[in-house]
Amino acid sequence: MTGVTVNGRALAFDVDPGMPLLWALRDVANLTGTKYGCGNGDCGACTVIVDGAAQRACQLTLAACEGRAVTTIEGLSRDRSHPVQQAMVAEQAIQCGFCTPGIVMNAAALLARNANPDEATIKAAITNLCRCGVHPRLVRAIQRAAAVVRRESTIDAAPMPGGAGRIPALAPAPQSPPSGDVP
Ligand code: FES
Ligand code: FES
Repeated sequence: MTGVTVNGRALAFDVDPGMPLLWALRDVANLTGTKYGCGNGDCGACTVIVDGAAQRACQLTLAACEGRAVTTIEGLSRDRSHPVQQAMVAEQAIQCGFCTPGIVMNAAALLARNANPDEATIKAAITNLCRCGVHPRLVRAIQRAAAVVRRESTIDAAPMPGGAGRIPALAPAPQSPPSGDVP
């Protein structure tokens, strides 16, 4: 068993400890929001947050994550209200959607350690590949999200899919879901 806290839940993975974290998240824990792009550590589609730092999940083994705290896109917010998520929509910084979870996680980790990044800092941190050329919009979105994190601004939230209302962008808060085992 490999014990990893995922999105605030203590999970025990009964699989080869050498399995990449990305596989464990997607195929064992059924957290498919984290995407498999290149598998080589290049694209960033698999980015999750491990102990507060953005990490490529395809490049980490489960064993390397033993006892650590992993946050995936599913755990970033329960209602898509994280400022990065709302700002990405507001600035139309999403094209394919496949690379987006990794970009959001990388940006969220950046803003958690630096709530006022300049353009150069953002470009240096967000190394995720995007073939669509959304990077100028990404910079605007991340700076807009940063203003929300600093509580200097708000975002007129996008409607939820299915017309279920609007969720305002909120500064992130700690989570404490119950513990449980992965079968
Ligand atoms: S799938 Fe991990 S960096 Fe591309
Ligand atoms: S938005 Fe996903 S590759 Fe460009």
